Amino acid sequence: MEAIVDKMVAADVIVFATPTYFYSMAGQLKVLIDRMVMKYTTITGKDVFYLVTSGDSEKAHVEKVVEAIRGFTLDCLDGTKEKGVLYGTGVNNKGDVEKTSYLDQAYQMGRNC
Ligand SMILES: Cc1cc2nc3c(=O)[nH]c(=O)nc-3n(C[C@H](O)[C@H](O)[C@H](O)COP(=O)(O)O)c2cc1C
Repeated sequence: MEAIVDKMVAADVIVFATPTYFYSMAGQLKVLIDRMVMKYTTITGKDVFYLVTSGDSEKAHVEKVVEAIRGFTLDCLDGTKEKGVLYGTGVNNKGDVEKTSYLDQAYQMGRNC
């Protein structure tokens, strides 16, 4: 955990990626964010991206997950700049994402950063 947080402190860009699990982010990402409590004030001036997938095809549904991560990044980390959001909706089964343009969209967002 500490090694990940140290990498976030050193990074210029941070990508928060998670599936939607029961209307929220995955537990692993939530625990990471929660355990940053001792160091989050040292994570400043980052460009951030959010990549969120869901089985549901409604973007509004995924927006709630993005909002939760955004609360941490924009309200708690000084100088954060939001650079892009990918709503990877409608991917419920293994391999579904490869039938979409989401992987390419994520790549292009990074390239255009
Ligand atoms: C435990 C669990 C809970 C899920 N909850 C939701 C949900 O609340 N809304 C939704 O749209 N999709 C939900 N899904 C579907 C996943 O968000 C979607 O299939 C995602 O792409 C899975 O990513 P993964 O392969 O990294 O687990 C859920 C899937 C799992 C396994």
